[in-house]
Amino acid sequence: MTGGLINVADFERVAAERLEAGVLGYFAGGAGDEVTLGDNVAAWRRWRLRPRMLAGVSEVRTATEVLGAVVSMPLLVAPIAYQRLVDEDGEVGMARAAADAGTVMCLSTLATARPSEVAAGAPAGRRWFQLYRFRDEGVTRALMDEAIESGFEAIVITVDAPRGGRRERDLRAGFEIPAEVGVPSVQAALGVDRAVTIEETFALMDPALGWSDLEDLASECEVPVLVKGVLTGEDAALAVEHGAAGVLVSNHGGRQLDCVLASADALPEVVDAVGGRGAVLVDGGVRRGTDVAVALALGADAVLVGRPALWGLAVGGERGARRVLGLLRDELELALALCGCSSPAELTRAHVQRAPAAP
Ligand SMILES: Cc1cc2nc3c(=O)[nH]c(=O)nc-3n(C[C@H](O)[C@H](O)[C@H](O)COP(=O)(O)O)c2cc1C
Repeated sequence: MTGGLINVADFERVAAERLEAGVLGYFAGGAGDEVTLGDNVAAWRRWRLRPRMLAGVSEVRTATEVLGAVVSMPLLVAPIAYQRLVDEDGEVGMARAAADAGTVMCLSTLATARPSEVAAGAPAGRRWFQLYRFRDEGVTRALMDEAIESGFEAIVITVDAPRGGRRERDLRAGFEIPAEVGVPSVQAALGVDRAVTIEETFALMDPALGWSDLEDLASECEVPVLVKGVLTGEDAALAVEHGAAGVLVSNHGGRQLDCVLASADALPEVVDAVGGRGAVLVDGGVRRGTDVAVALALGADAVLVGRPALWGLAVGGERGARRVLGLLRDELELALALCGCSSPAELTRAHVQRAPAAP
């Protein structure tokens, strides 16, 4: 069913044909004028690769280590809310796809499946849990406890959403999460089971989160804590100084504050500020193996993809998501070989330069 689709753009096109307009707007859209949404993709292409020849690359491995454990490739699945809107298996299907691809799936707080359900559905997979801190401490604690008891290996706390971004596609469509698509965390926080808007959902979260809260979380948490949504060297340094195991350079796929830096443009200063004191991951606009190669060359330990995996799930369920992850892995392997690198770790800043300005 997905055999004729040979790259992420193919999956995006077919997903756009199949999804209902309001749902498509939710997944594809960004905040404001969607300046950052578009720039995320464009910014990777403002770099050019500097491949090295005659490097003897008869064997190329894409496997690498992230947070001390091996993954089949430096490409993980980003947390995306409400996945049962596009596929009946939702997050469970996505977790199985990631497990088959040998990589990590990060489950959203706003998932349509509980952490324990995802763990049971893909027991062989590796998983991280993305945390939004609810105003209700009990709801937050229960979610984290369930995730950690279910074998989730890291908490990824999202810090770029003290409020929801202004997503005009959703406003125009009057988009609401249908009541029949259950969101266990939101149901627990509201104590009821009904349709909720995105705005209402964000209003359940604690906007007062500060650096001391991160420090408390990191010191109390049995698993490593990553900070998702960092775009400056200043915040990256503060994150590792307050106990984070690493940072995820991200602008939430262009869905929070519009007109912020594209992730690719923020990455170098974050890598420099962290200075090896923690992991540096990045997401936003990664659509090709060559984008992954640029990110690694700029110093990222790994990238995450959000929409590409989601388009796979929307087009072909678990198999579709697996195919997208496989395509990106193959593209990365080819890019490594053609750069003269036999592993991701061999890519360095000497392998990239800024693209010449357009005439
Ligand atoms: C529809 C959608 C829902 C998302 N939901 C969440 C979420 O619940 N929590 C979160 O931290 N990030 C969320 N994100 C942001 C992603 O984790 C990731 O940062 C972003 O999708 C990366 O950009 P990309 O889609 O261009 O790969 C969401 C993104 C999209 C597109």
